[in-house]
Amino acid sequence: MKQVFTGIAELYTPRKRLERAALAVQDGRFVWVGAEDSLPEEYRDWPHIDLGGRGEGPSAPGGRRGVVPGIVDAHTHLVYGGNRLGEYLKRARGESYEAILAAGGGIYATVRATHAASEDELYEWAKARAALFLAQGVTAIEIKSGYGLLPEAELRMLRVIRRLGETLAQRIFPTLLAHVVPGGWEREKYVAMFTRELIPEVARSGLAEAVDVFCDEGAFTLKETRGILEAALLHNLKIKLHAEQIAHTGATKLAAELGALSADHLEQSTPDDWQALAKSGTVGTVLPGAAVILRKPFPDARAMWDAGVRVAIATDHNPGSSPLYSPWLGMQLTLSLGRLSAEEALIAHTENAALALGRKDLGRIEVGAQADFVVVDSNSALQPLYRWGHTPIHAVYVGGRRVFPPG
Ligand code: NIG
Ligand code: FE
Repeated sequence: MKQVFTGIAELYTPRKRLERAALAVQDGRFVWVGAEDSLPEEYRDWPHIDLGGRGEGPSAPGGRRGVVPGIVDAHTHLVYGGNRLGEYLKRARGESYEAILAAGGGIYATVRATHAASEDELYEWAKARAALFLAQGVTAIEIKSGYGLLPEAELRMLRVIRRLGETLAQRIFPTLLAHVVPGGWEREKYVAMFTRELIPEVARSGLAEAVDVFCDEGAFTLKETRGILEAALLHNLKIKLHAEQIAHTGATKLAAELGALSADHLEQSTPDDWQALAKSGTVGTVLPGAAVILRKPFPDARAMWDAGVRVAIATDHNPGSSPLYSPWLGMQLTLSLGRLSAEEALIAHTENAALALGRKDLGRIEVGAQADFVVVDSNSALQPLYRWGHTPIHAVYVGGRRVFPPG
């Protein structure tokens, strides 16, 4: 498949900004990116697709549109049963997330609702959520298990995630999550089961690419976390961490020490932690939904960026701490409260987010990368960052193929 895309007013690679750009795509990857009037001879007789159209302002009609890389969401819990509206209302009145969890609600409530749902239901509900993400330009999604807890229930979640990967337009990255110790289990027994049975089984069956641990008060200790992550590494799985969300546990430094892809949350992280991330190259992922909704300190994305951390942004979509359906709102919150520039926020949800999945060929518009991109319904590519609560997306492409709008 060979194709040239024209009609682009403004494009972010995301690190570079181009005007009046064109793209050449072959077999799902970019083979040329540059100014339209310097399109090399060899691409001129390829089929052309004009991405322009209505545009906005002076460009309408027959104008040009903005283009940004496909948005990468490198931290979600997209598969679950039920919802936690009741808990959300209680928390809005001042009850704490931690107290609700300790009383057997919170994550445990979603575990019960997930157990009660069939595999087909879990698939259909997640598919519907993924469609909402696609319409906003999300072309790659990491999805964690973690609402099964019991071995068979975790495997069931991972099978749902695999089916999503086989059927959805987006690229799906499955992660096995050690979330909390299930009721009725002794901690040591659960950690032993997780490391000696579940991780080997998941590695054998190829049901996950990575293992993540919720290392925090009320979840797993730093010592337990180290054991789980070392088992994952032994089985050639990549590792990620939920780090420093509720309490400061030292999880960020552990992530850096073990060469994790990313340390996520970071509400309670310190300059020392950022140094460790910067040194190891481990991505620091901020989750603006969880920080703002749970009324925690907003991670200092500016200071992290300036300390040399590769900062990513993700939705952390889940029914409890972050019922966030919009990566754009996440970027907006991070530019306002985390003091990133708009251009940096875009890098954090594209190129850097892809690094949090171990992928250098996603989240960027450059020769050799996968041709995943978003056509903005405006001649300004950053218009969706400017408009709070409204996301002007014209079309979404994955591997050079239009996947939104469908048909
Ligand atoms: O990333 N922090 C732990 N896990 C999820 C929350 C899951 C839930 O509340 O259901 C998170 O915020
Ligand atoms: Fe999470």
